[in-house]
Amino acid sequence: MSRIKVMSIFGTRPEAIKMAPVVKALEQDARFESRVVATAQHREMLDQVMGLFEIVPDRDLGIMQANQTLTEITQRALGGLEQVFLEERPHIILVQGDTTTAFAATLAAFYQKVAVGHVEAGLRTDDIYNPFPEEMNRRLISVLGDVHFPPTELSRKHLLASGVKPQHIYLTGNTVIDAMQHILGAAQGALPPALVETKNRVLLVETHRRENLGRPMENVCKALKRLAEEFEDVEIAFSVHRNPKVREVVYGVLTDVPRVHLLEPMDYASLVQLMKKSYFTLTDSGGIQEEAPSLGVPALVLRTTTERPEGVDAGNARLVGTDEETVYEAAAQLLKDAAAYKRMSQAANPYGDGGAAQRIVQALAHHFGLTEERPAEFIPRAAAPNGAAHHVVA
Ligand code: UD1
Repeated sequence: MSRIKVMSIFGTRPEAIKMAPVVKALEQDARFESRVVATAQHREMLDQVMGLFEIVPDRDLGIMQANQTLTEITQRALGGLEQVFLEERPHIILVQGDTTTAFAATLAAFYQKVAVGHVEAGLRTDDIYNPFPEEMNRRLISVLGDVHFPPTELSRKHLLASGVKPQHIYLTGNTVIDAMQHILGAAQGALPPALVETKNRVLLVETHRRENLGRPMENVCKALKRLAEEFEDVEIAFSVHRNPKVREVVYGVLTDVPRVHLLEPMDYASLVQLMKKSYFTLTDSGGIQEEAPSLGVPALVLRTTTERPEGVDAGNARLVGTDEETVYEAAAQLLKDAAAYKRMSQAANPYGDGGAAQRIVQALAHHFGLTEERPAEFIPRAAAPNGAAHHVVA
């Protein structure tokens, strides 16, 4: 049989991070021909990741425009990808997660009767408007997709409940852990010296979600200001997203507040390095919620709901929402209460073990009949009460 042509498609920073290990694994497997298409829904933030992982896209649609609407992103991605699929006829495309790029690529593939594999499938909240539009994007991808790679047992259950057939599901773990392990071993970040040298406790902050834009984000920033003013041994490192709607609020409240560092979007190596050094993190980012438990870094999640409850169940994460008082109280408690801190800072790996990309490649081989063997499934490891890691027996 000729090689299976697999086209990996991504448009934003987190998709590129989570797809990079899969692209690398496909490139090394002679059974597959790997093609990479960037919609470039994001420009600078995407290029940073592709440079770091040394990925050069075969096609780059360059769709980003300032203050783009969801409709515009969808239209430009749909049109551009239809052309690519007509010209290249891949056997299967791979999409990741729940962005507009992932959904538009899936729809464009469906129209051309091209198969779709969904990396990080089956995540759910019970609210279609939270996160918006991501919750609906992933549900629609589950309906249109052909092969599904849920990271956890819970996400597999969601897929089964959505009517996906068990034989089309491969439990792989999350590729973000593969990416993080690779970068920790391979690249040196470039952090501001003040953050490298400080003996103070560093809080890492990243927030960008649509449902948090405006007032919720302003509340969070006010809570951060109070924390910086009250705790003199704390440095707040805020990686500020390129979205102008994020920047306006963050700079408005936090410019010139002592010990608050407003940083340009950090490259992934620096972000991971800083996360490792952090006392805890405050975030609405999905990736950071997944990475932090593996590093034993507590996460206060700036959302009212999460599609990633595994970290909360493992004790590493807590949902604190975006109310100023609640965010302030939760962070202040972690700073003051050593026992509470210890409970949240034990390493666990509910999301992945670094082997997800290999499992996905093996699953693709199985799906296309190149092997009869299904890949072994991901088994999570939880933090033991004494802080040591142990395996959860399924
Ligand atoms: C998108 C994804 C979200 C993901 C996030 C990661 C959707 C609907 N949302 O949200 O799921 O968590 O990316 O960052 O797909 N911009 C730049 N340069 C860049 C990147 C963004 O200038 O490199 C600006 C643009 O003005 C753009 C704005 O940021 O209009 C927002 O980007 P957009 O892709 O619309 O949404 P995100 O909020 O980034």
